[in-house]
Amino acid sequence: MKNNLVGKKHIFTLCLLALSVSSFSKDYLISTPKTSFLFSAEKGQKSKIQYYGTRIDDIKDVYNSGLNVNYESYPAFGLDCIKEKAIAVTHNDGNMSLDLFVNDVVTENIDGCEITKIIMKDSLYPVDVIQYFKNYNGTDVISTWVEIKNQGKKPVTLYQFASAYMFMPRGENWINHLHGDWASEHMMEEERLTNGQKCIVNRYALDNTTTSNPSFMLSMDGKLKEKTGLVMGGVLSWTGNYKIQFNAQNSYLNIIAGISEENSHYILDGKQTLVTPEFAMTYSTEGKGGVSRAFHKWARKYKLNRGGETRDILLNSWEGVYFKVNQETMEQMMSDFSDMGGELFVMDDGWFGNKYPRNNDRSSLGDWDVCKEKLPQGIQGLIDYAKSKNIKFGIWIEPEMTNTKSELFEKHPDWVLQVKGRELTKGRGGSQVVLDLTNPDVQDFVFGVVDNLMTNYPEIAYMKWDDNSSLMDYGSCYLPKNKQSNLYVDYQIGLEKVLKRIREKYPNLVMQACAGGGGRVNYGMLPYFDEFWTSDNTDALQRIYMQWGVSGYYPAIAMASHVSADRNHQTGRTTPLKFRFDVAMSGRLGMEIQPKNMSDKDKAFAKRAIAAYKGIREIVQFGDLYRLVSPYDDKGLASLMYVSENKTKAVFYAYKLEHLRNMNIPNVQMDGLDPNKKYRLKDLTPVNENKPCWLNERVISGKMLMEQGLPLKSLLGGEYSSLVVELSEVETN
Ligand code: DGJ
Repeated sequence: MKNNLVGKKHIFTLCLLALSVSSFSKDYLISTPKTSFLFSAEKGQKSKIQYYGTRIDDIKDVYNSGLNVNYESYPAFGLDCIKEKAIAVTHNDGNMSLDLFVNDVVTENIDGCEITKIIMKDSLYPVDVIQYFKNYNGTDVISTWVEIKNQGKKPVTLYQFASAYMFMPRGENWINHLHGDWASEHMMEEERLTNGQKCIVNRYALDNTTTSNPSFMLSMDGKLKEKTGLVMGGVLSWTGNYKIQFNAQNSYLNIIAGISEENSHYILDGKQTLVTPEFAMTYSTEGKGGVSRAFHKWARKYKLNRGGETRDILLNSWEGVYFKVNQETMEQMMSDFSDMGGELFVMDDGWFGNKYPRNNDRSSLGDWDVCKEKLPQGIQGLIDYAKSKNIKFGIWIEPEMTNTKSELFEKHPDWVLQVKGRELTKGRGGSQVVLDLTNPDVQDFVFGVVDNLMTNYPEIAYMKWDDNSSLMDYGSCYLPKNKQSNLYVDYQIGLEKVLKRIREKYPNLVMQACAGGGGRVNYGMLPYFDEFWTSDNTDALQRIYMQWGVSGYYPAIAMASHVSADRNHQTGRTTPLKFRFDVAMSGRLGMEIQPKNMSDKDKAFAKRAIAAYKGIREIVQFGDLYRLVSPYDDKGLASLMYVSENKTKAVFYAYKLEHLRNMNIPNVQMDGLDPNKKYRLKDLTPVNENKPCWLNERVISGKMLMEQGLPLKSLLGGEYSSLVVELSEVETN
């Protein structure tokens, strides 16, 4: 019986029409090419998770092997309160329970992706929960979220409202996750999951990835390995406060992921629905590498704005001139960058404000008019200059913020988040405050920042959307008294409304999500953005560690990586220009430097490196990532590579992180190549154009490169030496 249903419920179709099928059967199998999720549901019963893991074709395998979990797919608080719950509701009469039963299971096909909905109803109160599972066609990612519907007339209060509730096998589980701080975001942590509760959380509300990132990998079979092992990966698509909980006991392991409910109980009016953010998961038998590649593919195909188009090589003005923006300097930077082969210039902070010109971080946010004194020819003048130099023009904004010293604040003090009767907490520069995005007027204003610029200057090609503050004062002049606790969630809903409007009107505008560096590296922002600013820390050495962490969950095409000055502004470290380029070339290459301060020799090198990146851009931005030697393994080395889908092209990177005399440098085995192909190797960034490394132009088989590897010892020199090698298939007849 169960077996017959597999074919019917098998979710793996290319149908492009939205088609809705309501059916009733016991087992529902959702399968991607390599993974399967199984639940059971019957009208009037509880829906139950049975299995998530490698792909199964016969569900009897799950039941016969005793691997079936058989636990509620969305347990509610109130009855049988022992295990952790996904939802807790207090009804208007004070009753704190919910008892959900399946009413129907419906499948729909939207844009080729099959969506399965479990429609659940409470037996006593008019609260419905619809649990969604989406199978992303052509990927190994399945996602889940819920809609909580208050079908009654009176409000209810949601004290818990998870997006996902999963059970995974309890064994020797290890987790991988990211942690950090400003300028050291996304550092990788790996640890054994011991019994008890482990939470990945953020309370900053806006820059929600400055500390932890809403993502993780979980192994089922011991320490996480790069190429082998059973690993589940999870990411939450939310850019506000979140909590990912692992509840581990000897007998079970569950994962509850969603918006953090801390100080955030949600008042849901009658006839109102709360949609929780999407939690996406994948499962790999190829260790961490398999998880990363699955997320990267999914991100490019479904989650990233313009995920299928290559990104330009840009120069951002920030570290070059900081607030000292003026016509002459902008033109000089554009001209120099164009000479080096650059494609896009971005004017960062400092270009706006007239009553209060933005000369530092103490004023002007909100006054988005070009400063006439600094830029007498206005934005059009800059665009025209960029055009004359054959490059595109982009601009920085921070539209969710204002300063107490600004015309905007003078006009609309009530647009700022604040606690009535108390002094404002001021952030950056001692005067930055956050606009109240729950307020539709503020939403219009924020939309207008982009819309006005684009209406007046439609040739603006790129916007860097920054946010340099967390949500500090918890209070909204717009939300009614009884709904102040909705602020954390409603702020994000307001932000999303604005971003949706922007994307509907300007789908092709390239936008970068930045939040005081890498504070918005998440899948809540990415659908509206083309990329993220990875960190304000541009030190190439530390970037190797941070980018390694990011690469676990986010694709290289979105990871902005810039070459900056040789005495790094954040760490004070001096590294060779080649090393800085070789690191930045493993992401979306850019520069963050005043070209005027570069020597002619360095400019010539930069020109060659930029030209080289153009040749490998497609492999880096669309290829499959294989991490080879982790910088976290304390070998003084790091190495990775990208391989094109058809395995005809690849790029290999190696970095020396420290140097000790006679240190042991093992050969590095490549990965992801075709063992039967032969590849010609090209040293892409030799310091001396005429002296590439000895590997240059040699032809080696994929088999040799993957089994024996490269003798890095003879290819790398001292500390901060590095190598970027392009591999191209050689046709052999
Ligand atoms: C923080 C960003 O991360 C920087 O890149 C820069 O844009 C500054 N803000 C500007 O104030």
